[in-house]
Amino acid sequence: METRLLLPTKENIELSGNALRNGELVAVPTETVYGLAANALNGTAVRKIFTAKGRPMDNPLIVHISDFSQIERFNLVREIPEKAYLLAEKFWPGPLTVIMPKGSAVPNEVSAGLDTVAIRYPSHPVTQAVITAADCPLAAPSANTSGIPSPTAARHVMHDMNGKIPYIIDGGMCEVGVESTVITVVPDVPILLRPGGITLEQLESVIGKVEVSEAVLYKMKEGQKAESPGMKYKHYAPKANLILIKSSDDKYIEYINSCKKENVAALCYNEDVEKLNVKAFPYGNKNDYAQQANRIFDVLREIDESDVKTVYGRCPDTKGAAMAVYNRLIRAAGFEVIELA
Ligand code: TXA
Ligand code: MG
Repeated sequence: METRLLLPTKENIELSGNALRNGELVAVPTETVYGLAANALNGTAVRKIFTAKGRPMDNPLIVHISDFSQIERFNLVREIPEKAYLLAEKFWPGPLTVIMPKGSAVPNEVSAGLDTVAIRYPSHPVTQAVITAADCPLAAPSANTSGIPSPTAARHVMHDMNGKIPYIIDGGMCEVGVESTVITVVPDVPILLRPGGITLEQLESVIGKVEVSEAVLYKMKEGQKAESPGMKYKHYAPKANLILIKSSDDKYIEYINSCKKENVAALCYNEDVEKLNVKAFPYGNKNDYAQQANRIFDVLREIDESDVKTVYGRCPDTKGAAMAVYNRLIRAAGFEVIELA
C-alpha cells in the first residue's frame, strides 16, 4: 500500500474524514504525540490498528472526541462520574484521558474486553477537525510500531508506518511530546495510571486525592496485576544500553568523562553539553520539564540511529511535568539506575 503524506488542508481533512468513516486508518497529529486513528465504533477498522502497530490485542485503545456531547450521543459510556465532569471542565480539550464505565456502542476491540473505556478530547485543531469531518469518535493509540518511542513528528510515523496505512497528516512537531495523562475515575479514589502533560498536582487541585498507580514509578513485580494493561508490556528499550544516573551536576560529568568504555554517549541536560567529552544527546534544560517532555522521544529515536553502545542518562525529576519523562525513561532504562553519593 502506498502511504501518502497530507498537509492539513480543508480538502485533505475531508478526505481523511471520509477514509475514516469508511473503515480506513489515518495517522493524525495531536498535541501530545501522533495517533493512528480508526472509526472507534467499527471493530473491523479498529483491528487494522493492532495489525499495523503489531500491538497485543489485550491492550485497550483511547477513544477521541471533538465535543463533550459526543460521549452521550455515541453511547460511549454507561455513566459520566461526577469527577469526570470536573476534570473535563478544567482540562478538556487537552492532554488528559479519563477512564469511565464502558457504554454499549464501544466494540470489544477498543476496550480489549474490559468494562471500562478511555476517553480523550484533544486540543489540537487538526485532530478536532478530522474527528468532526469523520463524524465518529476515533480510536487512536500512538502511531508508532509497538515497542518503539511514540512519534512526535510526521517523519517518525512515516518511518514506522510506511506501506502499512494509506494516509499520514503532517501537522509538524507535537507540542507536549509525551502521551496524555491517563486517570481512572471508576474507583472512589481516582488512580493516575500514566503521567503526562497534565500533572498529578493539577489533577488533585480539581478532584482532591488521586492515588498514583505503583507501576508509574516502580518496576512491576512478577505476577502483579496491571491496573492499565499498557504498563505490563515491555516498553521501548534503546538498542544501546541505557543507564540512568542520579547525582549532582558535577558528579554526573565526572563519572562520564572518566569512563573508559567505547562508544559512550550522554543523554543529558542542555547545560551539561559543553562540559562533556563524549557525544551528547541533550533532552532539555535542567529546570524546563515541558521542554524535556517535548524532546525526549525524538532524542531517543536519534540515539537509535547512532552507533553508540552505552548511554548514561541524567535521571529526570519525579515531580510536576517531569514525572512523565521519568516514567518513560525509567522503562527505557529497564529500571537501571546508578546513584552517586
Ligand atoms: O496522548 C495520547 O494518549 C495518545 C494520542 C494519540 O492521543 N494516545 C496514546 O494511546 O498514547 P496508547 O494506546 O499508546 O496508550 C493508551 C494507554 C495504554 O497504556 C492503555 O493500556 C491505557 O491507555 N488504557 C486504555 N484504555 C484503558 C482502560 N479501559 N483501562 C486502563 N487502561 C487503559
Ligand atoms: Mg503507545
